[in-house]
Amino acid sequence: MAKKSASKAKAPTREEVQKKLKARDGVGKRALITGITGQDGSYLAEFLISKGYEVHGIVRRSSSFNTGRIDHIYLDPHVKGGKLKLHYGDLCDSNVLGKLMRTVHPQEVYNLGAQSHVRVSFDMPVFTADIVAMGALKLLEAIREYQTETGKQVRYYQASSSEQYGKVLEVPQKETTPFYPRSPYACAKVMAHWATVNYRESYNMHASCGILFNHESPRRGETFVTRKITRAVGRIKMGLQDKVFLGNLDSKRDWGFAGDYVKMMWMMLQQDEADDYVVATGRTITVRKFAEMAFEHAGLNFKKYVEFDPRYLRPAEVDLLLGDPAKAKKKLGWVPETSVEELAAMMVEHDLELARREKTLRDAGHKLPDSSGHDQ
Ligand code: NAP
Ligand code: GDD
Repeated sequence: MAKKSASKAKAPTREEVQKKLKARDGVGKRALITGITGQDGSYLAEFLISKGYEVHGIVRRSSSFNTGRIDHIYLDPHVKGGKLKLHYGDLCDSNVLGKLMRTVHPQEVYNLGAQSHVRVSFDMPVFTADIVAMGALKLLEAIREYQTETGKQVRYYQASSSEQYGKVLEVPQKETTPFYPRSPYACAKVMAHWATVNYRESYNMHASCGILFNHESPRRGETFVTRKITRAVGRIKMGLQDKVFLGNLDSKRDWGFAGDYVKMMWMMLQQDEADDYVVATGRTITVRKFAEMAFEHAGLNFKKYVEFDPRYLRPAEVDLLLGDPAKAKKKLGWVPETSVEELAAMMVEHDLELARREKTLRDAGHKLPDSSGHDQ
């Protein structure tokens, strides 16, 4: 009942929101994405290109190729009509950020770049803060200067995180729940979050934070727990690996599908007013339960294959994350479309196929690289 009277107050109808979004479809628009080579960057780039955007991505110089997730949407610059343009740059380099604003002239900027691994942030706290906190500030400054110089308005998306809630002060977590960060990564994200809010309030910038809960996919980095598990399932099933070592199986996460979540990033920037939103499924399960589901999908009993290794524990843990996506639903009509069961199945299917290919290579006498030494 309460829900009904609240939505009567002034929430636009689903049709009104859809109409507004359609009117702002991306033909003739340019978006700039940091972190385009990552999981979310690749899904967002695909999504924006499908809407007609010209997408510009910032790529870090690396001695080996780091564009594997976006190669399928990249056209050689000699071929006409490519919708994806890549530029070398780094969030620590404010000169490049300013130069790209002045040369690309984006209407929308999505800041997804980060050292995004929580465990690794304890090993590299200063670097993590430089990229996650100072990088966001440098980008906000570059946008502010560009707006002042050109008089053009730019819409900014900040990749905030449920990790900011840390030792949670409320269950479920909402936009109004106070932050209590528990890692160098989360501390840096809190700084970037408040810098975004501060630029919105100080300079009237269209700057929004998406407080995204954990989201996964077959493109998830292999050292995050869901992918580490589904990779292991595939390799164990194909006889390429005996077991998998994990840390804390009791922590709970609200896991959704990255493909659903990038749509919400875009929807946020299509609103007249910038605002912050929780993006979550509203369900939480333990790491143990996710492992059980993933192994079961391949017909395996996880208890036979999962072993504990204390090196995967963190100096401080986030025990429980559970998001309340009510505001996203009410104001933008966004709902997650993929359940965690579907997500686990999708990832296992993908990784079974990957392991099948690895097995084919091994059976043909090729040596497979052993990456077990640098997982987290
Ligand atoms: P990801 O797969 O780890 O991708 C991170 C991206 O940032 C990569 O493209 C990486 O480039 C780039 N990057 C790293 N250091 C950089 C630097 N110094 N300068 C510029 N770019 C740099 O992360 P994700 O899962 O896609 O997440 C995207 C964003 O959302 C991140 O900010 C993350 O913290 C945040 N977030 C993620 C989740 C989640 O569950 N996935 C939830 C909440 C918030 P390389 O490819 O060269 O390493
Ligand atoms: N990575 C990892 N490896 N995590 C493990 C392992 C392991 O072997 N064993 C247990 N875990 C537990 C972690 O201790 C944590 O409680 C949980 O699994 C999830 O870990 P990750 O998958 O590494 O994700 P995260 O929750 O720490 O951080 C991710 O989500 C955040 C949003 O809440 C990252 O994507 C962050 O960038 C993002 O902000």
